[in-house]
Amino acid sequence: MKGIILSGGTGSRLFPCTKITSKQLLPVYNRPMIFYPLNTLVKAGIKDILIIVAPERAGDYLNLLGSGKEFGVKLTYEIQDKPFGLPEAFIIGEQFIGNDNVAMILGDNIFEDDFTEEIKNFSIGAKIFAKKVKDPERFGVIKFDKNMKAEAIVEKPKEKISDYAITGLYLYDKRVVDIVKKLKPSPRGELEIVDVHNWFLDNAELDVVEVKNEWVDCGTFDSLLQAQILARERLQHLLVI
Ligand code: G1P
Repeated sequence: MKGIILSGGTGSRLFPCTKITSKQLLPVYNRPMIFYPLNTLVKAGIKDILIIVAPERAGDYLNLLGSGKEFGVKLTYEIQDKPFGLPEAFIIGEQFIGNDNVAMILGDNIFEDDFTEEIKNFSIGAKIFAKKVKDPERFGVIKFDKNMKAEAIVEKPKEKISDYAITGLYLYDKRVVDIVKKLKPSPRGELEIVDVHNWFLDNAELDVVEVKNEWVDCGTFDSLLQAQILARERLQHLLVI
C-alpha cells in the first residue's frame, strides 16, 4: 500500500493566515498540521508516501519533512499547479501508484483512530471512512439504508440527507487512476471525490467503515481551534513522528 497526502490548495477560508503559508503547515498545538495525517499513515505501516503540494509552498515542505528518513519512511513530492479537485491527486500520482493500492489522506484531516488493520486488510475496491457529525453540510455525506448499507453519496448537500460525513481518508485499488481520468469536472469546475466513491458504489465495491474516535477537518477557524484542543488533550501519546 502506497500513501498520498494531498496538501495543496490556497486555504482561502483561513485568510489572512494562509496568505504567507500553506494551510497544512499552520500549527495544530505543537506540530505543523501535516504531521498529524503523516503520523496516521506512518503508524499504519505505510513506508512510501507522496506529498502533493502547491508550487509556491514546495520549498517549505521539503525543508520541513525532507526525505522522510527521520520518520523511517520515503517521502516524495509532486506539484499541483492549481486546485482541480481531490481526485486529481491520482492523476498526478499515477507513476507513483504503479500497480499498488493507495491510501490517500487529506493534509488537513486529523484522526484519533488507528487504521493499521483496515489498511493491512484492504485488497480490492474502495474503502472510505464515515463519521456522524453535527454539521454534515460541510462535507461529502453518505446515506445508509436501514441495514446500514450505503445508499447514496452527495458532496455538501443543500438539504440534509444524513448525519454521516465522509472523512478525508480513502483506500483504493490501482484502478482509481483510470476511473479518475474519465471523470468530468462538476459545475464548480473541479473533479469531485464523491464521483469516485459513486463509481465504486455503483459497482458494489465500496466498503464504508465508521470512524470510532475523534476526527477533525481543519478547514475553518473553529475546526482548527477544535483540532488544537484535540491534539493537546488526546493525540500527543499517539504520535510516532
Ligand atoms: C473534502 C471532500 C469531502 C470530504 C472532506 C473531508 O472537502 O470534498 O467530500 O467530506 O474533504 O475533509 P473539502 O474539505 O475540500 O471542502
